[in-house]
This record gives sequence, C-alpha cells and structure tokens, in this order.
Amino acid sequence: HKDLLDVSQLSREDVDVVMRTAASFREINTRPVKKVPTLKGKSVVLFFAEPSTRTKTSFDIAAKRLSADTFGLAKSGSSLQKGETLKDTVLTLQAMNPDAIVIRHPSSGAADFVGKRVSCAVINAGDGWHAHPTQALLDLFTLHGVWNTLAGKTVVILGDVAHSRVARSNCRLLPMLGARVRLCAPRTLLPKDAAALDAEVFHDLDAALVGADAVMCLRLQLERQEAGLLPDLREYARRFCLTTQRLSRANPDVKVLHPGPINRGVEIASDLADAGNSLILDQVSSGVAVRMAILYLHITRKDKGE
Ligand code: CP
Repeated sequence: HKDLLDVSQLSREDVDVVMRTAASFREINTRPVKKVPTLKGKSVVLFFAEPSTRTKTSFDIAAKRLSADTFGLAKSGSSLQKGETLKDTVLTLQAMNPDAIVIRHPSSGAADFVGKRVSCAVINAGDGWHAHPTQALLDLFTLHGVWNTLAGKTVVILGDVAHSRVARSNCRLLPMLGARVRLCAPRTLLPKDAAALDAEVFHDLDAALVGADAVMCLRLQLERQEAGLLPDLREYARRFCLTTQRLSRANPDVKVLHPGPINRGVEIASDLADAGNSLILDQVSSGVAVRMAILYLHITRKDKGE
C-alpha cells in the first residue's frame, strides 16, 4: 500500500512485518548516538491540523533518527488559518515533492482524501473519529513485548468509545492477533455501530473486568461531546474511573494502558496511571519504534519498486 489509512488494510503478514521492523529499530533509541542513515535525503511533512504531543513528537523523532528531514505544518501559523482548503494545502505540499506526509485532521476520511491527491506516502496520524492506525500498532507492539502473543488474551477498552479512533483501530487490529476485545462504556458513549465491531459490549465496569488481561482506558473527549450531552464528570468517574480496587477483579498480572493524554481522576485514578502495572510510558516508547518502521516501510516501498 502507498498509504497507511487504517489497520483494516493490513493482512496478518503485514502486521508481522511492522512488528519485526519496529523490533529491529527499537535498540537505536537506546544507543548513545541515536541516528542511522537509512532515510537520508528523504523529507517528511508533519501536517497536524489538530493538537498532538505524543504522535507528532514521536513521528518527528522517528524520522530524524532515520536521518530524514522533517517539516511541520500546523493549523496555527499556516494558511489553513486564512481559510485555505485542504485540497489546496495538499496540492501545495505535493508541489514540494516530499517523500511522506503524516496527517492528523479533525475530519474522518481526511487522510484518504490527501492520499488520493499526492504521489508520496500518506500516513494517517488520526482522522476524526475514524482511525488511528499507528496508535493501535504501538499498542500491539507494547502488549507483544509483555506477552509475546495476544492469542487468548482479553483486552477491555474502557470509556469514551463513541469518539475514539483509537478504540476503532484496536477493535480491528487486536482480534486479528487472537485477542478478545470487550468494550465498556455508558450507553451514551458507545458508537451506534458498536454491534458491528468485533467486541463484546459491557455497561458495567466490574463485570467487564472479570478475567481481563489488560485494560485500555480512553480519554473522555470533552471537546467532541455534542452540545448538552456532556456527562456529569463526577457521576462518570464514580461508574467508569479505573481504580486499583476495581482492577482487583481482573487477572492478577493485569496491565493498564492509556493512549494519552490522560484526564487523571476521570477515566483512570492518578496512582494507577503511575503504578507498576501501567504500560502508559512503554506505549510512548513503542510509538517511536513503530513509527520508525512505518516511515521506513512506506518511504522505501517506491525505491524497491513495490
Ligand atoms: N495518543 C495520541 O494520539 O496522543 P496525542 O494526541 O498527544 O498525539
């Protein structure tokens, strides 16, 4: 594939290639000199029309550790602020001949729209509520590092599923690797197509946690709630905030994940986010290795004549 739009385009073999490539790049991140010449002379545009800390920084670090040059474009400070359309922005970028465009955008389908209009690789760094493929791949890489296999494991995805591109991509990816996915959310925060997702649905957190091997908490996306439907935060936390006490219902060695950013005390108790079984910062480290792999595989595809 020229572009990475979502994990649904990947076969099991494609996923294995990403995991193996990420594993081979991982040790570069702990060397005294964290740079290899693999993508020297290549250019990567980081086009972020929505805020980001983890995804943007880790793509930037990943590209630079492979010696590619990176160019940032944000909504603020660009001609998007003057009302330039996505189409014109993209045609302008294409005229500068980059080797890859990494795009985050509030509209679902934005990465696909861009991919159809440029000859370089387009990597989806999160489009609206639709997909966040590199997040799901880094979540998988993190869990693989702990378990070696996801076969037979039960992963609970907890919280604001309705607005979560992370949940959607993980519901597509984790079952491909043999995991069972449970979604746990209040009815108002489940997507209308929840029944079509490869997951069992729960509205009671204590029930969802029984036998869980990992719990992935999701951020309550306050900025995406429909007007007037914002849940009462205290009531939400009372029913759905993951705490150490609640987690005792899960399997003894249960792991805790969160894609970030975290609303501490809303979707996860602050002490649990920092506890020994939390993989939250391992997810961030995995993000660099996985994004190195994605940039490498997509940028060198053309040179290899694939
Ligand atoms: N997980 C994630 O996408 O975080 P950022 O919004 O900080 O990139």
